Amino acid sequence: MSRTGSAFRAMLGLGAGALVALAASAGPARAQPAGEAAYQELCASCHRTPARFMRRYQSMTSEARRAELERFLPRHYAPDEARRRAIIDWLEERHVPAR
Ligand code: HEC
Repeated sequence: MSRTGSAFRAMLGLGAGALVALAASAGPARAQPAGEAAYQELCASCHRTPARFMRRYQSMTSEARRAELERFLPRHYAPDEARRRAIIDWLEERHVPAR
């Protein structure tokens, strides 16, 4: 057990090292999340950041908020489904204000 255990730990160590190396090599040139790019293009001219409009969705559950945005955004500058989804994912991940 202890032998397999240490081999396993060694493998885990290698895996973590490889991940760190990957993250480091991605560096500052790492691509923007798709949702952020779409937001910059479609929304940022009017809403510099989502902070203000996201406050009104603050008390909703994640499902309700997604449903509400999915209902509203097709006629509010995000008619394209893929980009709308990306924006909603990005808002949900990064811009839900703390309660
Ligand atoms: C041409 C300007 C403009 C663009 C582009 C724009 N918005 Fe808006 N948006 C507004 C205005 C004006 C309001 C209403 C005032 C407010 O709530 O700040 C608004 C309101 C909202 C609201 C609140 C909805 C509500 O019921 O009050 C959300 C959410 C929103 N926008 C998201 C977005 C997203 C996401 C994008 C990009 C897909 C976007 N907006 C693009 C001008 C814009």
